[in-house]
Amino acid sequence: MRGIVLAGGAGSRLDPITRVASKQLQPVYDKPMIYYPLATLLEAGIREILLISTPADLPRFESLLADGSQWGIQISYARQDQPRGIAEALVIAEDFAAGEPVTLILGDNVFYGDLELERIVAGFETGATIFGYPVDDPRRYGVVTLDDDGRPVSIEEKPENPRSRLAVPGLYVYDGRAAEIARNLTPSARGELEITDVNREYMRRGELTVVTLGRGIAWLDSGTHDSLLQAANFIATVEHRQGLKIACLEEIAYLKGYVDRAHFEQLIAGMPNSSYRQYLERVLELES
Ligand code: G1P
Repeated sequence: MRGIVLAGGAGSRLDPITRVASKQLQPVYDKPMIYYPLATLLEAGIREILLISTPADLPRFESLLADGSQWGIQISYARQDQPRGIAEALVIAEDFAAGEPVTLILGDNVFYGDLELERIVAGFETGATIFGYPVDDPRRYGVVTLDDDGRPVSIEEKPENPRSRLAVPGLYVYDGRAAEIARNLTPSARGELEITDVNREYMRRGELTVVTLGRGIAWLDSGTHDSLLQAANFIATVEHRQGLKIACLEEIAYLKGYVDRAHFEQLIAGMPNSSYRQYLERVLELES
């Protein structure tokens, strides 16, 4: 399975911190936000990734993440010239996906806990799989309603009067038809190709699966100054308590066997002295 990370958008709600670099390049405690969705993909065994961003931000992502070989993965890049919606990422990624299933994750979605994405991706065949996560204020998200058997009966984008509390996080698994579905959508009132409309089309065909994420999973918001601070505090609290880092890409690459020990040692040797490097040195010691 290949992965697409969409890191577009103007980030205007975080102004002025997003004036010179996009939201997904901002820190969530000790690492750039984009590390978190990348970690979600790496942990699921997804190692071929296309990162889509704006023409202005793309070079910044390239200088941060390079071609991915440092983590034993492949990262390629594509532009979204205008903010024409999340679903447009599927169209942009059409050649990359080559008609095969893809996992799409938004560059500002931070997950903590076991989503079982590796199992879901490994067993994925056709249709679409999305997630539902209970939130206090569903009006800010795509909202899905399930029947008693857990099948989706409605899915709406930012509804005034939500029919459920289940928000749809920015993590989607699609079969090879997603690009075509996205291409045939009519732009919404906000002028975007809505990912919710792609999901609605799969639902109409009876091919949308919704996995409900329960307690024990954190899906953190990073869209406002306060939620960004809360996300950083959450990560810092868990990391300090356990002495383990969340979304540390070097560590994941090593523990997953994407890079061998010699490569991991080299990676560490090339880093400036920082608490991040010290952490990786400890990982090396413990895992020897
Ligand atoms: C987008 C999607 C929405 C989804 C959310 C998750 O909203 O349109 O369905 O719930 O991402 O982060 P946006 O962030 O573009 O407002």
